[in-house]
Amino acid sequence: MNPLTHVAIIMDGNGRWGLKYKNSRNAGHKAGLKTVEKIIRETLKNKIRFLTLFAFSTENWKRPKKEIHYLFNLLENFLINRIDELHKKNIKLKILGSKRFSPKLNKLLSYSEKKTFGNNKLQINLALNYGSKLELIEAFKKINRNKNKISEQNLERYLQTKDIPDPDILIRTGNTKRLSNFLLWQIAYSEIFFEKKLWPAFTEKDFKKIIIEYKKIKRNFGKI
Ligand code: IPE
Ligand code: IPE
Ligand code: MG
Repeated sequence: MNPLTHVAIIMDGNGRWGLKYKNSRNAGHKAGLKTVEKIIRETLKNKIRFLTLFAFSTENWKRPKKEIHYLFNLLENFLINRIDELHKKNIKLKILGSKRFSPKLNKLLSYSEKKTFGNNKLQINLALNYGSKLELIEAFKKINRNKNKISEQNLERYLQTKDIPDPDILIRTGNTKRLSNFLLWQIAYSEIFFEKKLWPAFTEKDFKKIIIEYKKIKRNFGKI
């Protein structure tokens, strides 16, 4: 049975779900947040140490302003209402990506990270304004500036995921088989699950099924 330390998720399909059932993409984002809460509970139940959620990519700025505004508003309210509860559950929140949002959201994100910094039951990495290519470029710049040798180990020290083990599992919901610039370096040996269901429709049961399947996989890492 494979040990399971880190699950990463590309939470895709909110917009399509919202349009189909509520005639509004934003309603899909709202419903998607419910799935986030469900999956956090299930992650705790399964004693998984790291959960990385892709919430907003560097490319998502190309979306209509109204949708972007709705998404960040949703996140703001979530943090305001839930950060104490996350803290009580011994959850640490870390943001991957650069915090270039409204001053209010930037402050709220930093506050949430600081408040939960010492927690160690579950670390939730929220990828927000995150892009893997940008992360790699920034890492190479820092290596160069510090005149470090370019090696796997040195590069990893400059990634935003420094101190976070690579994902064991990558899940993408929403019936699309692509990575959309997510953790390209870190998923070199992750087990990848493409899920047909749209994110708001994804359930604890679906998550559990993936975990069970993952545990049985023969992971080789190049060996036989
Ligand atoms: C959620 O799904 C991902 C985010 C950027 C928040 P989408 O909003 O991409 O949903 P679809 O793919 O358009 O259905
Ligand atoms: C990936 O979903 C980003 C997030 C889930 C936050 P997208 O919906 O933005 O990906 P593409 O554009 O369809 O590849
Ligand atoms: Mg999408």
